[in-house]
Amino acid sequence: MASRVQLEGRPIVITGGGTGIGAAVAVACATVGMPVTITGRRLEPLEQTREAVLEAGGQAQILQLDVTDPDHVDILLDTAEDAFGPFWAVLANAGRGLLRSGHGTSDPEMHAIFDVNFHATHALLREAANRMLARGDGGHLLATSSCVSKFAVPNHGAYAATKAAQDLLCQAMRLELAPAGIHVSTIHPITTTTEFFDVSAKVSGSTNGPSGTHLTPRRFMQPARQVADAVVRCLRRPVPEVWTSHIVRMLSAIRTLRPTVLDRQLRKFL
Ligand SMILES: NC(=O)c1ccc[n+]([C@@H]2O[C@H](COP(=O)([O-])OP(=O)(O)OC[C@H]3O[C@@H](n4cnc5c(N)ncnc54)[C@H](OP(=O)(O)O)[C@@H]3O)[C@@H](O)[C@H]2O)c1
Repeated sequence: MASRVQLEGRPIVITGGGTGIGAAVAVACATVGMPVTITGRRLEPLEQTREAVLEAGGQAQILQLDVTDPDHVDILLDTAEDAFGPFWAVLANAGRGLLRSGHGTSDPEMHAIFDVNFHATHALLREAANRMLARGDGGHLLATSSCVSKFAVPNHGAYAATKAAQDLLCQAMRLELAPAGIHVSTIHPITTTTEFFDVSAKVSGSTNGPSGTHLTPRRFMQPARQVADAVVRCLRRPVPEVWTSHIVRMLSAIRTLRPTVLDRQLRKFL
Protein backbone atom coordinates (compact mmCIF):
# COMPACT_ATOMS: atom_id res chain seq x y z
CA MET A 1 0.00 0.00 0.00
CA ALA A 2 1.29 3.51 -0.85
CA SER A 3 2.57 5.50 2.11
CA ARG A 4 0.35 8.22 3.56
CA VAL A 5 0.85 11.71 2.11
CA GLN A 6 0.60 14.64 4.51
CA LEU A 7 -1.78 17.01 2.70
CA GLU A 8 -1.85 20.03 4.99
CA GLY A 9 -0.26 23.05 3.31
CA ARG A 10 0.10 21.27 -0.04
CA PRO A 11 -1.64 23.32 -2.77
CA ILE A 12 -3.99 21.84 -5.37
CA VAL A 13 -5.20 23.26 -8.71
CA ILE A 14 -8.68 22.22 -9.92
CA THR A 15 -10.28 23.04 -13.28
CA GLY A 16 -14.08 23.24 -13.36
CA GLY A 17 -14.05 24.08 -9.66
CA GLY A 18 -17.11 26.35 -9.63
CA THR A 19 -19.72 23.59 -9.64
CA GLY A 20 -20.41 19.90 -9.08
CA ILE A 21 -17.54 17.49 -8.49
CA GLY A 22 -14.82 20.16 -8.84
CA ALA A 23 -16.47 22.40 -6.24
CA ALA A 24 -16.97 19.50 -3.82
CA VAL A 25 -13.33 18.43 -4.24
CA ALA A 26 -12.20 22.03 -3.62
CA VAL A 27 -14.10 22.19 -0.32
CA ALA A 28 -12.97 18.70 0.76
CA CYS A 29 -9.32 19.53 -0.01
CA ALA A 30 -9.55 22.87 1.79
CA THR A 31 -11.00 21.07 4.82
CA VAL A 32 -7.84 18.98 5.10
CA GLY A 33 -5.64 22.09 4.80
CA MET A 34 -4.82 22.21 1.08
CA PRO A 35 -4.81 25.74 -0.43
CA VAL A 36 -6.94 25.53 -3.59
CA THR A 37 -6.86 27.35 -6.92
CA ILE A 38 -10.03 26.82 -8.95
CA THR A 39 -11.03 27.81 -12.47
CA GLY A 40 -14.05 27.90 -14.72
CA ARG A 41 -15.59 30.25 -17.27
CA ARG A 42 -18.32 31.70 -15.02
CA LEU A 43 -17.39 33.99 -12.15
CA GLU A 44 -20.45 33.51 -9.94
CA PRO A 45 -20.09 29.75 -9.28
CA LEU A 46 -16.37 30.25 -8.64
CA GLU A 47 -17.16 32.92 -6.06
CA GLN A 48 -19.67 30.57 -4.39
CA THR A 49 -17.05 27.81 -4.15
CA ARG A 50 -14.50 30.27 -2.74
CA GLU A 51 -17.10 31.30 -0.15
CA ALA A 52 -17.67 27.63 0.80
CA VAL A 53 -13.90 27.06 1.08
CA LEU A 54 -13.48 30.09 3.33
CA GLU A 55 -16.41 28.91 5.48
CA ALA A 56 -14.61 25.56 5.83
CA GLY A 57 -11.59 27.46 7.15
CA GLY A 58 -9.53 27.03 3.97
CA GLN A 59 -7.72 29.22 1.47
CA ALA A 60 -8.87 29.65 -2.13
CA GLN A 61 -8.16 31.74 -5.15
CA ILE A 62 -10.31 31.78 -8.26
CA LEU A 63 -9.43 32.34 -11.87
CA GLN A 64 -11.89 32.84 -14.73
CA LEU A 65 -10.50 30.80 -17.64
CA ASP A 66 -11.64 28.72 -20.59
CA VAL A 67 -9.64 25.47 -20.78
CA THR A 68 -9.83 25.55 -24.59
CA ASP A 69 -7.75 28.76 -24.59
CA PRO A 70 -4.20 27.65 -25.52
CA ASP A 71 -2.70 30.12 -23.01
CA HIS A 72 -4.79 28.95 -20.06
CA VAL A 73 -2.32 26.40 -18.68
CA ASP A 74 0.58 28.80 -18.07
CA ILE A 75 -1.73 31.49 -16.72
CA LEU A 76 -3.35 29.01 -14.33
CA LEU A 77 -0.19 27.36 -13.03
CA ASP A 78 1.76 30.65 -12.76
CA THR A 79 -1.09 32.26 -10.82
CA ALA A 80 -1.43 29.23 -8.54
CA GLU A 81 2.31 29.25 -7.77
CA ASP A 82 2.38 33.03 -7.19
CA ALA A 83 -0.37 32.72 -4.57
CA PHE A 84 0.45 29.49 -2.75
CA GLY A 85 3.91 28.34 -3.93
CA PRO A 86 4.63 25.09 -5.80
CA PHE A 87 1.46 23.03 -6.29
CA TRP A 88 1.43 19.45 -5.04
CA ALA A 89 -1.62 18.25 -6.97
CA VAL A 90 -3.50 19.15 -10.16
CA LEU A 91 -6.98 17.84 -10.98
CA ALA A 92 -8.07 18.15 -14.62
CA ASN A 93 -11.80 18.07 -13.98
CA ALA A 94 -13.49 20.55 -16.39
CA GLY A 95 -15.62 18.65 -18.82
CA ARG A 96 -18.97 18.26 -20.49
CA GLY A 97 -21.13 15.71 -22.25
CA LEU A 98 -22.80 15.38 -25.64
CA LEU A 99 -26.09 13.59 -26.12
CA ARG A 100 -25.69 12.22 -29.64
CA SER A 101 -25.42 8.90 -31.47
CA GLY A 102 -22.03 8.05 -32.99
CA HIS A 103 -23.41 8.28 -36.54
CA GLY A 104 -25.14 11.57 -35.70
CA THR A 105 -22.06 13.32 -34.32
CA SER A 106 -20.54 15.89 -36.69
CA ASP A 107 -16.81 16.59 -37.02
CA PRO A 108 -17.07 20.02 -35.29
CA GLU A 109 -19.02 18.44 -32.40
CA MET A 110 -16.40 15.70 -31.99
CA HIS A 111 -13.50 18.18 -32.14
CA ALA A 112 -15.21 20.49 -29.64
CA ILE A 113 -15.81 17.81 -27.01
CA PHE A 114 -12.26 16.47 -27.40
CA ASP A 115 -10.91 20.03 -26.99
CA VAL A 116 -12.55 20.44 -23.57
CA ASN A 117 -12.36 16.91 -22.17
CA PHE A 118 -9.15 15.54 -23.62
CA HIS A 119 -6.81 18.14 -25.19
CA ALA A 120 -7.21 20.51 -22.24
CA THR A 121 -6.51 17.65 -19.82
CA HIS A 122 -3.39 16.70 -21.74
CA ALA A 123 -2.11 20.30 -21.96
CA LEU A 124 -2.60 20.86 -18.22
CA LEU A 125 -1.16 17.55 -17.01
CA ARG A 126 1.81 17.83 -19.42
CA GLU A 127 2.85 21.28 -18.16
CA ALA A 128 2.18 20.34 -14.52
CA ALA A 129 4.29 17.17 -14.93
CA ASN A 130 7.18 19.12 -16.46
CA ARG A 131 7.12 21.65 -13.61
CA MET A 132 7.03 18.82 -11.05
CA LEU A 133 9.93 17.06 -12.79
CA ALA A 134 11.98 20.28 -12.78
CA ARG A 135 11.34 20.70 -9.04
CA GLY A 136 12.18 17.06 -8.33
CA ASP A 137 10.05 16.58 -5.23
CA GLY A 138 7.10 14.60 -6.61
CA GLY A 139 3.43 15.47 -6.84
CA HIS A 140 0.05 14.09 -7.85
CA LEU A 141 -1.75 14.48 -11.18
CA LEU A 142 -5.42 13.52 -11.43
CA ALA A 143 -8.12 13.57 -14.09
CA THR A 144 -11.86 13.22 -13.63
CA SER A 145 -12.54 10.53 -16.19
CA SER A 146 -15.75 8.49 -15.83
CA CYS A 147 -17.08 4.96 -15.44
CA VAL A 148 -17.92 5.23 -19.16
CA SER A 149 -14.19 5.35 -19.94
CA LYS A 150 -14.40 1.55 -19.69
CA PHE A 151 -17.78 0.87 -21.32
CA ALA A 152 -19.99 3.14 -23.39
CA VAL A 153 -23.75 3.52 -23.44
CA PRO A 154 -25.91 4.62 -26.41
CA ASN A 155 -25.87 8.33 -27.31
CA HIS A 156 -22.79 9.00 -25.16
CA GLY A 157 -20.17 7.53 -27.51
CA ALA A 158 -18.27 10.78 -28.21
CA TYR A 159 -18.22 11.61 -24.50
CA ALA A 160 -17.09 8.09 -23.57
CA ALA A 161 -14.33 8.29 -26.21
CA THR A 162 -12.93 11.46 -24.59
CA LYS A 163 -12.99 9.77 -21.17
CA ALA A 164 -11.30 6.60 -22.46
CA ALA A 165 -8.62 8.79 -24.08
CA GLN A 166 -8.01 10.59 -20.76
CA ASP A 167 -7.84 7.25 -18.97
CA LEU A 168 -5.28 5.73 -21.35
CA LEU A 169 -3.13 8.85 -21.40
CA CYS A 170 -3.04 8.81 -17.60
CA GLN A 171 -2.23 5.08 -17.51
CA ALA A 172 0.90 5.76 -19.60
CA MET A 173 1.85 8.90 -17.64
CA ARG A 174 1.53 6.95 -14.38
CA LEU A 175 4.23 4.53 -15.52
CA GLU A 176 6.41 7.27 -17.01
CA LEU A 177 6.33 9.51 -13.96
CA ALA A 178 6.42 6.95 -11.13
CA PRO A 179 10.26 6.93 -10.99
CA ALA A 180 10.11 10.68 -10.22
CA GLY A 181 7.67 10.14 -7.35
CA ILE A 182 4.79 11.69 -9.28
CA HIS A 183 1.47 9.84 -8.82
CA VAL A 184 -1.13 9.81 -11.59
CA SER A 185 -4.73 8.83 -10.83
CA THR A 186 -7.98 8.74 -12.77
CA ILE A 187 -11.39 9.25 -11.14
CA HIS A 188 -14.29 7.14 -12.46
CA PRO A 189 -17.56 8.50 -11.05
CA ILE A 190 -20.94 6.93 -11.73
CA THR A 191 -23.96 9.21 -12.27
CA THR A 192 -23.40 12.19 -10.00
CA THR A 193 -26.05 14.79 -9.25
CA THR A 194 -24.51 17.95 -10.74
CA GLU A 195 -25.27 20.42 -13.54
CA PHE A 196 -23.61 17.98 -15.94
CA PHE A 197 -26.79 16.46 -17.44
CA ASP A 198 -28.55 19.81 -17.89
CA VAL A 199 -25.45 21.24 -19.58
CA SER A 200 -25.20 18.15 -21.83
CA ALA A 201 -28.83 18.49 -22.86
CA LYS A 202 -28.37 22.21 -23.59
CA VAL A 203 -25.14 21.77 -25.60
CA SER A 204 -26.82 18.94 -27.56
CA GLY A 205 -29.90 21.02 -28.35
CA SER A 206 -32.05 18.39 -26.65
CA THR A 207 -35.62 19.37 -25.89
CA ASN A 208 -36.32 16.21 -23.88
CA GLY A 209 -35.01 17.52 -20.58
CA PRO A 210 -32.00 16.17 -18.70
CA SER A 211 -29.99 13.60 -20.59
CA GLY A 212 -29.91 10.55 -18.39
CA THR A 213 -30.44 10.97 -14.67
CA HIS A 214 -34.14 10.09 -14.98
CA LEU A 215 -33.10 6.69 -16.45
CA THR A 216 -30.58 5.91 -13.74
CA PRO A 217 -31.68 3.74 -10.80
CA ARG A 218 -31.06 5.46 -7.47
CA ARG A 219 -28.41 2.96 -6.41
CA PHE A 220 -26.28 4.13 -9.33
CA MET A 221 -26.53 7.80 -8.36
CA GLN A 222 -24.38 9.67 -5.87
CA PRO A 223 -23.81 13.19 -4.55
CA ALA A 224 -20.65 15.07 -5.60
CA ARG A 225 -19.48 14.96 -1.98
CA GLN A 226 -19.03 11.17 -2.27
CA VAL A 227 -16.62 11.62 -5.19
CA ALA A 228 -14.80 14.41 -3.34
CA ASP A 229 -14.22 12.24 -0.26
CA ALA A 230 -12.83 9.47 -2.49
CA VAL A 231 -10.49 11.97 -4.17
CA VAL A 232 -9.13 13.13 -0.81
CA ARG A 233 -8.55 9.49 0.19
CA CYS A 234 -6.62 9.03 -3.08
CA LEU A 235 -4.54 12.16 -2.43
CA ARG A 236 -3.69 10.75 1.01
CA ARG A 237 -2.92 7.25 -0.24
CA PRO A 238 -2.45 7.41 -4.01
CA VAL A 239 -4.11 4.67 -6.08
CA PRO A 240 -4.22 4.35 -9.89
CA GLU A 241 -8.03 4.51 -10.19
CA VAL A 242 -10.74 5.91 -7.94
CA TRP A 243 -14.11 4.16 -8.14
CA THR A 244 -17.20 4.95 -6.10
CA SER A 245 -19.27 1.90 -7.13
CA HIS A 246 -17.98 -1.67 -6.88
CA ILE A 247 -20.87 -2.94 -9.03
CA VAL A 248 -20.07 -0.59 -11.90
CA ARG A 249 -16.37 -1.40 -11.60
CA MET A 250 -17.31 -5.07 -11.98
CA LEU A 251 -19.30 -4.18 -15.12
CA SER A 252 -16.16 -2.70 -16.63
CA ALA A 253 -14.36 -6.00 -15.97
CA ILE A 254 -17.21 -7.94 -17.61
CA ARG A 255 -17.04 -5.55 -20.60
CA THR A 256 -13.40 -6.56 -21.10
CA LEU A 257 -13.87 -10.29 -20.56
CA ARG A 258 -17.34 -10.89 -22.06
CA PRO A 259 -18.44 -7.96 -24.28
CA THR A 260 -21.45 -9.86 -25.65
CA VAL A 261 -22.81 -10.47 -22.16
CA LEU A 262 -22.56 -6.81 -21.22
CA ASP A 263 -24.07 -5.62 -24.53
CA ARG A 264 -27.05 -7.93 -23.92
CA GLN A 265 -27.52 -6.67 -20.36
CA LEU A 266 -27.21 -3.02 -21.36
CA ARG A 267 -29.73 -3.45 -24.21
CA LYS A 268 -32.18 -4.98 -21.74
CA PHE A 269 -31.57 -2.25 -19.17
CA LEU A 270 -31.68 0.67 -21.59
N1 LIG B 1 -22.00 14.14 -13.25
C1 LIG B 1 -21.68 12.89 -13.60
O1 LIG B 1 -22.53 11.97 -13.59
C2 LIG B 1 -20.27 12.56 -14.02
C3 LIG B 1 -19.93 11.20 -14.08
C4 LIG B 1 -18.63 10.86 -14.47
C5 LIG B 1 -17.71 11.85 -14.77
N2 LIG B 1 -18.07 13.18 -14.71
C6 LIG B 1 -17.05 14.18 -15.03
O2 LIG B 1 -16.86 15.01 -13.92
C7 LIG B 1 -16.33 16.28 -14.33
C8 LIG B 1 -17.09 17.37 -13.61
O3 LIG B 1 -18.45 17.32 -14.03
P1 LIG B 1 -19.67 17.61 -13.04
O4 LIG B 1 -20.49 16.39 -12.98
O5 LIG B 1 -19.18 18.20 -11.78
O6 LIG B 1 -20.52 18.65 -13.90
P2 LIG B 1 -20.57 20.24 -13.86
O7 LIG B 1 -21.12 20.70 -12.58
O8 LIG B 1 -21.25 20.66 -15.13
O9 LIG B 1 -19.02 20.65 -13.90
C9 LIG B 1 -18.29 20.88 -15.08
C10 LIG B 1 -17.36 22.04 -14.80
O10 LIG B 1 -16.49 22.23 -15.91
C11 LIG B 1 -16.42 23.60 -16.20
N3 LIG B 1 -16.15 23.75 -17.63
C12 LIG B 1 -16.84 23.21 -18.66
N4 LIG B 1 -16.33 23.61 -19.82
C13 LIG B 1 -15.28 24.43 -19.52
C14 LIG B 1 -14.35 25.17 -20.29
N5 LIG B 1 -14.38 25.18 -21.64
N6 LIG B 1 -13.40 25.91 -19.66
C15 LIG B 1 -13.37 25.92 -18.29
N7 LIG B 1 -14.20 25.25 -17.52
C16 LIG B 1 -15.16 24.51 -18.12
C17 LIG B 1 -17.78 24.19 -15.82
O11 LIG B 1 -17.67 25.56 -15.44
P3 LIG B 1 -18.10 26.76 -16.42
O12 LIG B 1 -19.34 26.32 -17.14
O13 LIG B 1 -18.30 27.92 -15.51
O14 LIG B 1 -16.93 26.94 -17.34
C18 LIG B 1 -18.13 23.35 -14.61
O15 LIG B 1 -17.70 23.96 -13.41
C19 LIG B 1 -16.46 16.31 -15.85
O16 LIG B 1 -15.21 16.07 -16.44
C20 LIG B 1 -17.43 15.16 -16.16
O17 LIG B 1 -17.18 14.61 -17.42
C21 LIG B 1 -19.33 13.54 -14.33
